[in-house]
Amino acid sequence: MTQIYKSAWLATADSNNLWKIYYNAAMIVKDGSVVWIGEDKNIPTHDNCEIIDVGQSGILPGFIDCHTHLVFAGDRTDEFVKRQSGVSYSQIQKQGGGIFSTVASTREATEQDLLALSLQRIQSWIKQGVTSLEIKSGYGLDLETEKKILSVANKLSDLTGLTIHKTFLGAHVCPKEFKSSKEYLDYIIKTVLPDLIDSKLVDSVDAFCESIAFSAEELKPFLQQCKDMGLRCRLHADQLSDSGACELAANMNALSVDHIEYSNSKSISALKKSNSVAVLLPGAYYYLNEDKKPPIDLLRKHSIPIAIATDCNPGSSPIYSLCTIMNMSCVLFNLSVEEALLGITVNAAKALNLEKKGKLAPGFDADFAVWDIDNPASLVANINNWQCQQLYLRGKPYEF
Ligand code: NIG
Ligand code: FE
Repeated sequence: MTQIYKSAWLATADSNNLWKIYYNAAMIVKDGSVVWIGEDKNIPTHDNCEIIDVGQSGILPGFIDCHTHLVFAGDRTDEFVKRQSGVSYSQIQKQGGGIFSTVASTREATEQDLLALSLQRIQSWIKQGVTSLEIKSGYGLDLETEKKILSVANKLSDLTGLTIHKTFLGAHVCPKEFKSSKEYLDYIIKTVLPDLIDSKLVDSVDAFCESIAFSAEELKPFLQQCKDMGLRCRLHADQLSDSGACELAANMNALSVDHIEYSNSKSISALKKSNSVAVLLPGAYYYLNEDKKPPIDLLRKHSIPIAIATDCNPGSSPIYSLCTIMNMSCVLFNLSVEEALLGITVNAAKALNLEKKGKLAPGFDADFAVWDIDNPASLVANINNWQCQQLYLRGKPYEF
């Protein structure tokens, strides 16, 4: 079945990945894929098909959140209170809180509990026009709980129809029951990953490279072993200090290198030679009240694709709105409105290796949202409880 959507405007990345707005637009969709987009007056001749006119509303590609820790249990409000009295994020983790606190709650929760919590959370993404997202494990740190988290991510995809990229973040921190990081990373390679790969629960591997987690030296052989098992990596890199993580990620040709506030110019040059996407996480920068900004000008100078994401997690970025993150990326990191929109569409798709998503162009999936606004910049400029009018997943309307 073929549909023609007509709208006051349609905005997307073009074939050069530049942001483009068509006015009095039309889009032809066949069997869930985009066949043609352009101005209504240029529409090619076509057979009989269903016409859907959305009037004065506009059409945007489905948004993509390429970095989330959406599946977790527990609450870390107490840590926010502590930080406001002067205790740092790193100190809280060293005292046994932080990631360890969420690990304890998530280990305790049943799969059903986790699914109910996550299903409720994911509604905020859906209502804001998100059609694909990444979900990381990393709050289990043992086979049983890591598997529980990634199974919930799978079920979320089955229940909502959204595309979910599952990232194994077993190397988040070293759990207390292991004597050394090396012993724990060996356990991941020998016991955890083979089981998760067999169960088809891993699309990529992530690690937290930081003084309070793992060093670049420890992660280098680990990531190589993951690569030998057929898995591309991404890294939480240089968030709180320059740990050499960005350079390591670039040398491993990581799918993405995330945070990068402290990355130096040599690391960014290495990134230029890789095919990796730089993922900026202004929510964590804001929430932890950081003051070192990522090297945006260097990323621009080297034409490194920039994505932005919520980093939704209970400790460093308890934020459930990708639209708010677009605003933060502009205000805090000085991105342009177009860079913010490209960062949650085409560049986020690249970070997740989703070749047919992230823009509206012939051959791409018809994942899109209809918005009752005059200009897509409104979603970036206004911090609001945004809700799209309608969402389409591969051409099928989503039932809210
Ligand atoms: O992206 N940096 C490491 N991991 C996550 C969340 C950690 C947490 O739960 O505090 C992050 O900030
Ligand atoms: Fe994160």
